Amino acid sequence: MDKIVVLDFGSQYSHLICRRIRELNVYCELVPYNTPIKKIKDLEPKGIIFSGGPASVYSKNSPKPDNEIFELGVPILGICYGHQIIVDHFDGKIKRVPNREYGNALLTITNKTNLFKNIDADGLKCWMSHNDAAEIIPKGFEVLGKTSSSFSAAIGNSDKKIFGLQFHPEVAHTEKGDKVLFNFANVISEANPEWSMSNFIETSINDIKMKVKNEKVLCAVSGGIDSTTCAILIHRAIKDNLTCVFVDNGLLRENEREVVVDIFKEKLRIPLRIIDARERFLKSLEGLTDPEQKRKKVGEEFARVFTEFAENEGPFQWLAQGTLYPDVIESGVSGGPATVIKTHHNVGGLPEWLHLKILEPLRYLYKDEVRKAAKIMGVPQDLLTRHPFPGPGLAVRIVGETTREKINVVRKASKIVEDVLVEDNLYNKVWQAFAIVGDDKAVGILGDERIFGHIVSVRVVESVDAMTADWVRLPYTTLEKISSKITNEIENVTWVTYAISSKPPSTIEPQ
Ligand code: XMP
Repeated sequence: MDKIVVLDFGSQYSHLICRRIRELNVYCELVPYNTPIKKIKDLEPKGIIFSGGPASVYSKNSPKPDNEIFELGVPILGICYGHQIIVDHFDGKIKRVPNREYGNALLTITNKTNLFKNIDADGLKCWMSHNDAAEIIPKGFEVLGKTSSSFSAAIGNSDKKIFGLQFHPEVAHTEKGDKVLFNFANVISEANPEWSMSNFIETSINDIKMKVKNEKVLCAVSGGIDSTTCAILIHRAIKDNLTCVFVDNGLLRENEREVVVDIFKEKLRIPLRIIDARERFLKSLEGLTDPEQKRKKVGEEFARVFTEFAENEGPFQWLAQGTLYPDVIESGVSGGPATVIKTHHNVGGLPEWLHLKILEPLRYLYKDEVRKAAKIMGVPQDLLTRHPFPGPGLAVRIVGETTREKINVVRKASKIVEDVLVEDNLYNKVWQAFAIVGDDKAVGILGDERIFGHIVSVRVVESVDAMTADWVRLPYTTLEKISSKITNEIENVTWVTYAISSKPPSTIEPQ
């Protein structure tokens, strides 16, 4: 399949470039900037994009690609820092600008071929974020577009098919940025748009068949979209040689187990083994109040339950995991300079314990691509739109010790929050909505009796990727409905509060 390769110089937008190219149905991979040239050649890219990055080309030790990359004859597009690398490599001059250019600028297009082909506008709003700019552009290059503070905001050498953009075509703030990327990927690099989800599903099923042959695969499912999609793909490939396991840890949402059983057995027709480990988890959490200890304990207990199952029901040769592309990249495979190591969250160490080979059919997909694949393969709409739920479950929504009583309160209250949002047509407009309970109590009156009951907090946030979040300005009528339902329907709850902290400084979950 034709592909574009993005060299990651550490920009926060590197992933976005990759996603935007895939949205054009052209397959795209993100690799570290210092990937050896042999490996890049092996990838057989039709075009190469240099991402932006925080460094300055003239600083000592600034990240640079292997110079041979300019000799491959493959079209290159440099974005921001990537643009400066090109200028620097071909003996132009980069210097620090007196005023950092950040935000919207108006690009005047001066050459409507190549990158700006078929764009019927003389100017485009574009997004800038840089400290450095080209002072002298290299020989053989011409200016294709300029802004008021950047005379060389877009440059190109059409003979060599090498182009540079000072702005970011991949961000939504840049007008017709997708068209510019299309022109690079499709018109200049001639990469055919062959990347589609149906295509991916078919190839992936064949891959799994070839890899696994007649061996047995074990797959833990949570009812979430990733593990469900992973299970469907593998099941389509190897049928009964797949065993799916769902662990009920007693920390699930109301009816979650029933919903997952219904989806797997009735809708998807994939056999599912249920392990009822509710008592074990509760016991292991007894006396623990520290958030990290609680998280760790849930992880350890899961690993134990899962290992016992594998040993008793095996032998299995493979462990399936719903790892996604950003996890692969963020855990250091891309290794670009600004590589972020995810602090989240899920069970580590499991594969090693089990000595199983790892099968990760979603490791090349972004979350929205997983959703598309899931939809094509018949995953019910409810599951596609269900809010994310953390691995350690209600334990992270209970502050202090995880007791049966608090689990009961938080589970019922969360169900009320979700139901009211569905009723008021708000559920699909927010990122997550749930209840929290801790050890704080307040006095209330029940009939003639004064009781000292729980305070429940309601948390409803909007977010794009859970890295940052803001609390949702819910209508008072919705808040009122939530509050009165919680105090009326759940025993021993006297007060309801609304959590109005954004992330940062708070996190989405209270623990
Ligand atoms: P925080 O609380 O860190 O949460 O702002 C960000 C997102 O991650 C989810 N989350 C988890 N997901 N295992 C998971 O699978 C975990 O341990 C975990 N902790 C938080 C959280 O629900 C939110 O969507």
